[in-house]
Amino acid sequence: MTPEAYRMSVIVADITTLDVDAIVNAANATLLGGGGVDGAIHRAAGPELVEECRMLGGCDTGDAKITKAYRLPTRHVIHTVGPVWRGGNRDEAERLASCYRRSLELAAEHDCRTIAFPAISTGVYGYPKGEAAEVAVRSVFGFLAASDLPQSVIFCAFDEMSAELHRRALESFAPPSGEA
Ligand code: APR
Repeated sequence: MTPEAYRMSVIVADITTLDVDAIVNAANATLLGGGGVDGAIHRAAGPELVEECRMLGGCDTGDAKITKAYRLPTRHVIHTVGPVWRGGNRDEAERLASCYRRSLELAAEHDCRTIAFPAISTGVYGYPKGEAAEVAVRSVFGFLAASDLPQSVIFCAFDEMSAELHRRALESFAPPSGEA
């Protein structure tokens, strides 16, 4: 397996419980909270999070912004805005890849060694889970090939099916064991 493949892993967990250097939030353009993982992160972080987000002036799709984490066990929250799925011909794949890349850039700039991603855009935003997992693994793999930080990237699925899709995407970047 290439070193990059070793630096990616898949778990099933509630991302708000993870003791990593940064967790990524699947936010919306206002950055003022919402449902899904956005709601869970704001609830667990406490009211100071939205107060800090209010100062950021929103976030474009495909971009990411970083804040403190307040009552969460993590050190940073990186808020990114995924694309809404509109059938696949509206540059959704590139915009989703950009969410992963921009989040990793911010993590590296803030010396984060470990980062956890939820499956961005695959809930309310309707991105097909299998295709999103492929985009996620491919874009993280490409970033890790060119950067020593973060050292470890965790795909934090919220259910076993989502985890299996990420594991399958990951396998396509590493030959099955026993093959050169
Ligand atoms: N931990 C990890 N993953 C979670 C958690 C959690 N606590 N809660 C939900 N998820 C998973 C969902 O199962 C889904 O796979 O996060 C993924 C992303 O789903 P959403 O949270 O719905 O995010 P997204 O599809 O990107 O839609 C973003 O939803 O909550 C609003 O404000 C948000 O408007 C924005 C939109």
